Amino acid sequence: MKRSVVDQTIETAKELFATIGLHLPPFAFWTVEDWQSKGSECDEIRDSMLGWDVTDFGQGNFDQLGRTLLTLRNGSSKYGSGKDYAEKLILDPENQKPPLHFHRSKMEDIINRGGGNIIIRLFQANDKGQRSDEDLTIQIDGQTTDYKAGKHLRLEPGQSLCIPPGLIHQFWGEQGTGVLIRGKRYTVSGEVSRTCDDWEDNCWLEPCERFCKIEEDKPAQHYLVHEYPSAQ
Ligand SMILES: [Fe+2]
Repeated sequence: MKRSVVDQTIETAKELFATIGLHLPPFAFWTVEDWQSKGSECDEIRDSMLGWDVTDFGQGNFDQLGRTLLTLRNGSSKYGSGKDYAEKLILDPENQKPPLHFHRSKMEDIINRGGGNIIIRLFQANDKGQRSDEDLTIQIDGQTTDYKAGKHLRLEPGQSLCIPPGLIHQFWGEQGTGVLIRGKRYTVSGEVSRTCDDWEDNCWLEPCERFCKIEEDKPAQHYLVHEYPSAQ
């Protein structure tokens, strides 16, 4: 995907988070130029991959298949902070989905932080790692409820769903809901989870690239989480 699209979606995310009253840590605003003066005191940000994470999963269709995330905290064996938890904010444009996937070990809560509604669909994985039609039981804000495989489940602002390892999931902003920015509507979801290892823990149902190739059609405004240069 193009760098200009990466930077545009980050600007939209910053605008939306501010609109709904979500305040961000300083590193969310640091530019490529700002990073020139950051030394080893910022190694936790580099090694735990905190910051902006934008991808079209290598599919070239960002409006339909993509993600814009801001990792606020995470543990990593590289940095060795001892943190065994993670938190992210996710921009949910109307109808923009990630590919169907599940996690090997990460358990995550997906929380609607505001804007509009989030639609989620879920499937139990079979022994080949593909979707099964089996119905399941889920936890929404501490309440156990029956769920029919693949059904569209709506989370309104404030609601959250617990997604255990092995549960296939996909969620997106509901069409016609959310904060209007430059002709499109957006919701914000939050993810609170165990440590997130985006290199090893994701199982995609179709081949895709978690960190996609960026076409440098303009100078980058922000580094993405996997692009930070080492401290000088
Ligand atoms: Fe996930």
